Amino acid sequence: MRIVLLGAPGSGKGTQTDAIIQRYGVVTVATGDLLRAEVAADTALGQRAKPFMEAGELVPFDIVLGMIENGLQALARTHPKGFMMDGFPRDLAQAEALDKLLAKINQPLDVVLFFEVRYEEIVKRLLGRGRADDNEETIHNRLRVYEEKTAPLIDYYTRKGLLRTIKGTGSIEEIGERIRAVLDEIA
Ligand code: AP5
Repeated sequence: MRIVLLGAPGSGKGTQTDAIIQRYGVVTVATGDLLRAEVAADTALGQRAKPFMEAGELVPFDIVLGMIENGLQALARTHPKGFMMDGFPRDLAQAEALDKLLAKINQPLDVVLFFEVRYEEIVKRLLGRGRADDNEETIHNRLRVYEEKTAPLIDYYTRKGLLRTIKGTGSIEEIGERIRAVLDEIA
């Protein structure tokens, strides 16, 4: 199964990935985690990405696409049960690039899970988490960037018939059940 997790920062995508991996045997590709690992290792890529991440801006297209291209081609070979993208695509250019890449390796998406959560709830969650980019100013910029660049993907994937909306409030278990209901139907 090939899944994209779509939703604002703090909508709970990362929190649900372990349960999805365990149940469906997919592997996860989380661009935020990949980028944070590059920053922590102080690589050239990490040094380029860091100021964008600290400001809550999207990291430039070429950096992210390079990471995804290398990763996905290898994953398609090593993980026949499929993959789940968390944090990618994040704008229309990335979505179109992903479509092209997946068409090339003959692995089209099966579903896009859109986590719907109100912004007031998100700000509360992120201020309580305390990651390096979870300060008030950066959170508001991340939400602004999400609204402007990522939210148009809701329409993009709706038009492709791939979008399924998951109500992202309630307990982690309740949200997990909503996700299972959708994915069991597709699997
Ligand atoms: P990224 O790592 O993707 O972070 P993000 O977008 O800010 O998303 P989060 O990881 O914060 O949200 P989440 O939905 O996973 O929420 P979580 O489950 O953690 O990106 C970081 C940066 O990297 C970007 O700003 C950008 O600079 C760069 N980047 C990444 N990908 C990129 C790309 N493709 N292109 C360009 N740049 C890119 O939950 C959040 C909190 O809520 C947690 O504390 C959790 O415990 C809590 N929580 C979860 N579920 C619930 C619940 N049901 N009830 C109460 N609390 C809950």
